[in-house]
Amino acid sequence: MARPTTRTATYEAPPNIALVKYWGVRDRERALPYNSSLSVTLERMRSRTTVRFDPGLTDDQVRLNGEIASGGPRDGVVRFLDLVRERAGSTDGAVVRSDNNFPTASGLASSASGFAALAGAATRAAGLRLSDRALSQLARFGSGSASRSVFGGFVEWQAGHRSDGSDCYARPLYPAGHWRTLVDLVVLVRAAPVKEVRSQDAMQRTVATSPAYAARLAEVPGRIARIRRAIGARDPERLFPLVMEECDSFREVCETTRPSLDYLTATSRAVLGEVRALNRDAGRSIAAYTHDAGAHVHVFTLERALPTVRRRLARLPGVEKTLALHAGPGAHELAGGSN
Ligand code: DP6
Repeated sequence: MARPTTRTATYEAPPNIALVKYWGVRDRERALPYNSSLSVTLERMRSRTTVRFDPGLTDDQVRLNGEIASGGPRDGVVRFLDLVRERAGSTDGAVVRSDNNFPTASGLASSASGFAALAGAATRAAGLRLSDRALSQLARFGSGSASRSVFGGFVEWQAGHRSDGSDCYARPLYPAGHWRTLVDLVVLVRAAPVKEVRSQDAMQRTVATSPAYAARLAEVPGRIARIRRAIGARDPERLFPLVMEECDSFREVCETTRPSLDYLTATSRAVLGEVRALNRDAGRSIAAYTHDAGAHVHVFTLERALPTVRRRLARLPGVEKTLALHAGPGAHELAGGSN
């Protein structure tokens, strides 16, 4: 059969929120992390990416959320396409269009959903057929957290031990329907600062300068095992304190980085304080906070406590909006994208 002149594929991928954070690269060339991480894939929010390879193009054309991309965001996409071209033995230029169904300005825009969707669309358009595991291994070259967005539900990205990276990949732990009453209440804060340094650069500053980093690395494997078991048992009273302990450990290594990394606003800190107060008032763990390298806070709770938790958090000054999300499905191809 003759090789088609242009080949197109479209993929959709969700963002995820890490309960155990990826923070530190042990091998930059192979994009290998120091520690394993664990996340929940989120429902409803999606990046949708279409890639078309065209032998008539000498340059890549990249459009992100309707705008022609330039600078860092474009370079990241082009570098990733180069990896795919290398694997497919192709030199074709590409037309890439990627849109998020959530407002990019909300600060929730994540490189995880974008690079997972790009990995899927670009490999399919290049005629490569990768397993989801292999896709997760490729997606991490765009953004580490993207390796987890390939899968739905509760996902672990295992760091592995081998120097060639062959045992470093994401794998699904429990499907999205495993714990339907668990909710992630996303608390969007006003005036969230725009991230100036990419996480993959910021985390290397932490590795190099934070005196707390070695102790964190030593405790993560135990914490991941305990979190995995608490999710397996659907046990909020075990899970929630561990999620906050992990978030506090992440924040500590950020704050002790030189120069210090401070992602939170006064409102974010007030949200953390209110979650602690909610648990104190209830006399048990009814909610847990976590945040990534940004000011918005994710508060995990159960459906039955959601109205109380939401009311208490929504009234804090500086809280813009709250969004209740469940675990959702992973990345997938959309039909009708080829040729
Ligand atoms: C704090 O892999 O998303 O969210 O591509 O530079 O944004 P960039 O890095 P990325 O870093 C994730 C850091 C984190 C923790 C996590 O998601 O595991």
